[in-house]
Amino acid sequence: MSITTKINFMLIAIFSIALVFGGLNSYFLTEDNARQQVTDQAELIMQEALAVRSYTVNEVRPLLNQLGDGKFHPQTVPAYSATQIANLVRKTRPNYSYKEAVFNPTNPRNKATSAEEKIINQFIADRGLKKLVGTQDVNGVKSLYISYPIRITNPKCLACHSTPQNAPKAMRAIYGDKGGFGWKINEVVGTQMVVVPFTLPAELARKTFFSYLISLGILFCALFLVINITIRRMVLIPVARITRMADEASKGNLRDPEIKVSGKDEIAEMSNAFNRMRRSIIKIVQLLRKMQAQAKAKA
Ligand code: HEC
Repeated sequence: MSITTKINFMLIAIFSIALVFGGLNSYFLTEDNARQQVTDQAELIMQEALAVRSYTVNEVRPLLNQLGDGKFHPQTVPAYSATQIANLVRKTRPNYSYKEAVFNPTNPRNKATSAEEKIINQFIADRGLKKLVGTQDVNGVKSLYISYPIRITNPKCLACHSTPQNAPKAMRAIYGDKGGFGWKINEVVGTQMVVVPFTLPAELARKTFFSYLISLGILFCALFLVINITIRRMVLIPVARITRMADEASKGNLRDPEIKVSGKDEIAEMSNAFNRMRRSIIKIVQLLRKMQAQAKAKA
């Protein structure tokens, strides 16, 4: 096996190891990044929903209550405003959602799905649980969810969510007597949940991964070419020349000119040594021929 083949085999082995380990590492890193990005997005949406809720309570509700028109305005309800705004956002981002999902909702659109019910049950089972993060499939789209428990801690909530009789008449005129009642203090009634799709960051992760593989491939090809050309020019060609001359010398052909030596590397030293050896052989041969001639002359 030639030196180039051996070196090329070694290069391919190193490249394969770099590809497998580097590729896996880059894949997990980009996956991790993507997950972090999605989690950040979800947290941001949650914070925005919480901000809308407190804006409604602190700024919208006091003004609407001044109307005194005897009507119930859902715009005064934080759950309503946060959900409405999230639904407006969904028009351009259909895979993003914010929902206040409860077992027994005032507004039927807030009824928990079976997947959401499972999450609420986890909050009911573990009172210490403050937050749940996980992945789920929403209409075939891999998504991440963040959910918080909705626990009734403020007795004021019961003014509308205890019994229909206690609730404002104007509210019952809109929502009826069926849902959103019977909630108790300290009870977990539902979950506040943000769902964000993985598609965009996953796409980004895939692109980063492939561009890493392509750069590694280009780098390897360049390295392969440079190493092969260098070995050929610096080692193989000079060694082949010395071999050819040694071969000729062994056949007694000592007429070729000496090897031209340039530089000071190991190959140059070997060429110098070879030239010296060749000169000595030439001298010995010349001496032998002279002695032979003298012997002939004497005889
Ligand atoms: C003035 C009456 C009123 C009070 C007080 C009130 N809510 Fe509500 N709540 C409503 C109405 C009406 C809805 C339905 C809004 C809609 O159409 O989305 C609602 C909806 C909700 C929802 C969404 C699920 C559902 O039932 O549709 C949650 C969660 C909720 N309220 C929690 C609370 C909490 C927690 C408090 C106390 C901090 C509270 N509410 C106080 C009237 C009230």
